[in-house]
Order: sequence, then C-alpha cells, then structure tokens
Amino acid sequence: MKILVCVAWPYASGPRHLGHAVSTFIPADVIARYHRMKGDEVLMVGGSDMHGTPTMVRADEEGVSPSVIAERYHALHAKNIEQLGVRYDLYWNTADPHHKEWVQEIFLALKKKGQVYERTMISPFCRAGNHFLPDRYVEGKCPNCGFENARGDQCDNCGHLWDPFDLIGPRCRIHGTAPEKRETSHFFFRFSALEARLKQWIFDDKEFWRLPVLTFAKSWLDEGLKDRPITRDLEWGIEVPVPGYETKRIYVWFEAVMGYLTATKEWYRRSGRSDGWKDFWYDPKARHLYFVGKDNIVFHTLFWPAILMGYDEKLALPYDVAATQYLNFSGERMSTGRGSGIWLPELLERFDPDQIRYYGIATMPETKDTDFEWADFERRNNNELLAIYGNFVHRALTFADKNFGHEVPPATFLDATDKAMVRAIEQQAGKVAQNLEYVHIKDAMKEAIQLARLGNQYVDQKAPWNLLKSDRAACATAIHVALRVSRALAIIMAPFLPRSSSRLWHALGYDSDVHGERWDEALDDLPAGQKLRVGKPLFAKIDLRETSEDPTARFDVRIARIVDVKEHPNADKLYVLQIDLGDERRQVVAGIRKDYPIEGLRGRKVVVLANLEPANLRGIESRGMLLAGEDEATVGLLIPPEDVPLGSQIFGAKGASTLPFSDFQKYKFQVGPEGTVVFRGLGGEVQVTLSVDGKPVRVDKGLKEGTWVH
Ligand code: MF3
Ligand code: ZN
Repeated sequence: MKILVCVAWPYASGPRHLGHAVSTFIPADVIARYHRMKGDEVLMVGGSDMHGTPTMVRADEEGVSPSVIAERYHALHAKNIEQLGVRYDLYWNTADPHHKEWVQEIFLALKKKGQVYERTMISPFCRAGNHFLPDRYVEGKCPNCGFENARGDQCDNCGHLWDPFDLIGPRCRIHGTAPEKRETSHFFFRFSALEARLKQWIFDDKEFWRLPVLTFAKSWLDEGLKDRPITRDLEWGIEVPVPGYETKRIYVWFEAVMGYLTATKEWYRRSGRSDGWKDFWYDPKARHLYFVGKDNIVFHTLFWPAILMGYDEKLALPYDVAATQYLNFSGERMSTGRGSGIWLPELLERFDPDQIRYYGIATMPETKDTDFEWADFERRNNNELLAIYGNFVHRALTFADKNFGHEVPPATFLDATDKAMVRAIEQQAGKVAQNLEYVHIKDAMKEAIQLARLGNQYVDQKAPWNLLKSDRAACATAIHVALRVSRALAIIMAPFLPRSSSRLWHALGYDSDVHGERWDEALDDLPAGQKLRVGKPLFAKIDLRETSEDPTARFDVRIARIVDVKEHPNADKLYVLQIDLGDERRQVVAGIRKDYPIEGLRGRKVVVLANLEPANLRGIESRGMLLAGEDEATVGLLIPPEDVPLGSQIFGAKGASTLPFSDFQKYKFQVGPEGTVVFRGLGGEVQVTLSVDGKPVRVDKGLKEGTWVH
C-alpha cells in the first residue's frame, strides 16, 4: 500500500513548542516509521511555512526583512526535527522557487476553470501605517466565544474563522486604532461550488475520523461554505501571476496546503523521476494521512480537499486527518505567538529525544486537550519508561552479560510460562499494530509498554538468580526468552522511540539498523551465542530538582524609579524609559503606552528585572524589563512597598548572571492572593512571594489572582 504522510507546515516565525511537535512531527513520524517497517511504500513530506503573517509580525518586531526570519526559523525547525529523531523524506519550505512555480500553475488552472474569480471587497486599512492590514494585524473580540484577542482571520480560542470586520471592535495590532474600510480587488475561491461534493465525501465516507474532527468539519458544512478571498494586499508571499496584481500576494493558507502536493513533486524531481508523484496522487488506493493541530482542521478537511477537487478531480483526497486537540501548559494553550509554552529547542538541549517523545505520546491530545506538567514528565519517565521498559531490558542484558559469558544463552526446553511469554510477543505486537492502523498512537504505545511489563513479571516469576544455582539450563532458557522479548521490544518500540531502539538493537549484538527490520520480524528469535554489547541503561533518570538548581538565584529583581519617559519613535505601543536603580541608570523599553499616560509615570517607583539580557526593541536598546501583570484587557505595573530604598532586592540575587529571554519565559510569575505577586518556579515546586523586608510587592489595577506577570 502507498502511504503519503503529510505533516502540517510549521510557521517559520519562532521556535516551536512541544505542543506543536506532539500534534504534527511526532505522530506523523510514528506512523511513517511503522508503515515503512510493515513494507508499505511511504513518503513523508512537509516543510516550513515561510509566508505566514506570524513571520511578518516577528520581522516587524525585530526590524528585519521577513526572509531573514523565515530562513532563521526554517533552519531551526529542520535542526529540531532531526534532533527529535523525526525522519521526513523531504523537509522542504514554501519559499522554494519550485513550490512557487507549481502554486502559480495551480492558481492559473483554477482561474481558467472559473474556480477562482476576481471580485472587489472591503478590507481593513490602517491610516496610521498607510497600508492594508493582513489578517493577523487586526485584533478584536470574537463574536462566537467572546475571546478578547481574536485575530482577523481566526479566533485562537474557539477556532472559528473570521473576516476582520466580523470581530467586535476591530483594531490595528500595531497602532491600536480602528481600521477603516477600503475597497480592494482580490481573487476568490469558489468554495460554494464544491459544497455538495464535500458533503458527500465527508458524510458518506468519513465516519471513522476522530470525533472532534468530524464534528468540526460537519458543523462548517452545516453553516454553508462561502467563497473566500485567496489573495491579500501584502508584499511577503507568492506573487499573483496576473497583471495588475503586483502589490498583492497569494494567501498563505491557499499556497501552504498545496505544499503536500508540491513537496511530493519535488521529492520525485530530485530522485530523477519527475512523473513519479502521480503514483501517490492518482492512485485511488493510496492513503494520504494528515497530521495537524486543532486550529488547522478546517483547512485540511475542507479547504484543501476543495482545492484538490476544483483543480483536478482525479487527485487523491485526504484519507484521514488525524488532528489533535491542544497540549496545554499551566492551563493555557501553548502558543508561539503569545510566547507561552515549553520550547522544543530548550527541551532538546536538556533531555534525550526519546524521553520527550515518550512523554509527548503518553499525553498526546488525540481526542481531548491534555496538560504538560513537569512533575508528570519526570514521573512518567522514571516510573514508566525507565522502570518498566529500560529496567526490563537492562536486567536481561546484564544478567546474560555477567553469567553467560557476554552472550545470548541457549534455550533448551520451554515450559508453559516460557511459552506464554513468547506468545505474548505476538499478541502485543498485534495490538500495537492494530492501534497504529487506526492512528491510535497513545494506545499503541501503551500496548508496547505492556510487553515490557509482562517481561518484568516473567523475570520475577522465573527468578533466574535462583535458577542459576539449581537449574542452569532453565536459567539460560529464561534469560534467552527475556532477551528475545527485548529484541521484540527494540522493533516494536522503533516507531515511537527510534534512538533508544537503535541502542538496544546494538546492545543485543546486531550490527544492522533496527529501522531496516520488518515489523513481523519482531516475532523472530535471536541466535544463542550472539555476542552482547551491554552498556549504560537505555534511559537516564530525570531529576528536575537537580537539573533546575535553585531557580530563584537566576533572577535579579529590584526597585527602580522612572526618571524620564519618551514615546518610542517607531512603535506606538512602546515607551522608552530612563530608570534609576540607586547605583546606576538604565534605559528600558516597555509596552505600557496604552495603559499608562506619560504624566503618571515620571517619578513612579517600579519593579525591574535587572539581569534580563539586553534586547533591541524596534531599534532601541532595552536593558531590563518592568514587571507587570497582564490579562486580556489590562496591563498593571508592579508596585513596590513604600519607604524602601531604590535598588533594594525584591527577588533573586544581586549580581545574578544575565538571563536569556527564553530562560525567563520558562519560569512563572503570577498574581497571588490579595494582589501580591508570587514566583512559582519551573514545575510549581518552588513558591516565593515577592517582597522586601517582609513587605510584599503588589500589582496595580486590581488584576485577579492567577494573572500572569512578566
Ligand atoms: N503554518 C500553519 C500552522 O502552523 C500550518 C500550515 S499547514 C499547511 O498553523 F498545510 F497549510 F501548510
Ligand atoms: Zn472565539
């Protein structure tokens, strides 16, 4: 069977968080690896989404061109994917000239068929900036769920798609002002014409989809599909191949989804068979599996299929869209845009990728939101991955190493217990496979761990340390069987935990690559006499207390007085402040212009994170950060207690070394009881109220307990 594994294209706009990996890279990789081992013909494609507005927003903030940002994060994503052991056949990007060319071809073909047509529309225009506002540059209240910071194209909270003027109180994200309505002409995709076919496709054929995915797609169809603009007034993106459209670009979603098709073409082009992509896209039996997050459901269950139907009805539609829900952190959705979450680059620096994959799969939000918790991460690693799987194979290996001359002992006679153990290999491999066929990844891995658990029970029951003296042949048999189970585990675990499977395979004495083994070969025995290469245990114990040292010592938070305030020349939300820390003066940039008039700030005492790494905010250097609480509507500065001298230490240690911004984001400050402010450390294991001489700091504007402070 042909399996095309399609992985959602991450925005090249900033580091990805674990939630992203758990929705896309990791499940896609598990499924692709499993099908490769089964002998299916697999192609796994994707890449970085270079043209999204998040990339533009970041470029704007840094004052560089979007391509600098796109290339930087494309390289970072590619590196993180490799570190995570995720194996694409092609990890590409949408800025590639071939992608652009093919997208333009598809665009023109759709135009020729009348599926894409021209029409004028009203778009938000910002007078202050003198340009049209791309979707993400408009914010307002979601009419559906009431979320205050919904974006012009989509509400992050409920996932509803919007046009900018659908929002209640739309405003420009940079200037904060209400955009005006201006007429502009754009190309539209005729979704309405495909509604009936989409309905038929989904209602007749897709009952096996995950329930939230199906429900979401159906509710869209029930609302009725409107034609949607697929060009934008922008400079960053793929050119519209039509005269008169020089200042416009193809809408990023319209072209990025085409990446699944263009990347397949590119893979075959590179391998010298330019027409080979048709094998995957024109074979009605080929299965196209999509791995995306919840906010991508509509694009993959309706828009992309509609584009495919409109372009060429012989093309394969998605077989399954295995969308996940959200992996939350501290009760909030992880979001690169909002800067909250567990960041992949840092996670990968601290932990073995298989530890990350194990926890990611164990908490995978397949059908409902789940939570990342540091303590849970530690517990599951130590009590499951290590205690059950790692421990079992280590017991078998070290016992053989010590007592049977570093090699696999022979099995002479299998009693009923031994036979039951051998049968369990087949049973568990079958259960894992069956779950993977249905893309139930979490359950599949549970069944794999179950095999290790049975292995431990088996060894306990056999007690080879007793048999060693009383019945050496039976002892050899038990260890042989335990090694056989370990061998099976190396194969069965390979899709989930690829690196440790390779280590185990090597330790069992094989020189081949476990990822080249067939799935069915998990049932095979291993030869007596094979030399073992026993090394370290498969997994390290995680002790967060040890790795996080004393987190409070990383901060230097002090009292300062604002001596001067100016408006930032290039950013309407920012002030440039001069502050006095008692023994030194500094310049800091703060985003409080909307919330505090200049007059109220001069002379005011504030709380400053003094050792934050200096940053350049739209061309102006900032050396430190004013701490403030922030909810959806308000920013409230921290208020130091009265009668305390400038420079007094509020929290942490004077002289703490420079704190990178990404490290700062890992920690959590929150409004505590009665307007106090608490530091909650990494996993919530430390809790300190910010104060001087027992007098607490408080937060302005009556912000509620639980509000984030940063
Ligand atoms: N860049 C989008 C996101 O991260 C996903 C795009 S998937 C694609 O949400 F298929 F449209 F590329
Ligand atoms: Zn909403």
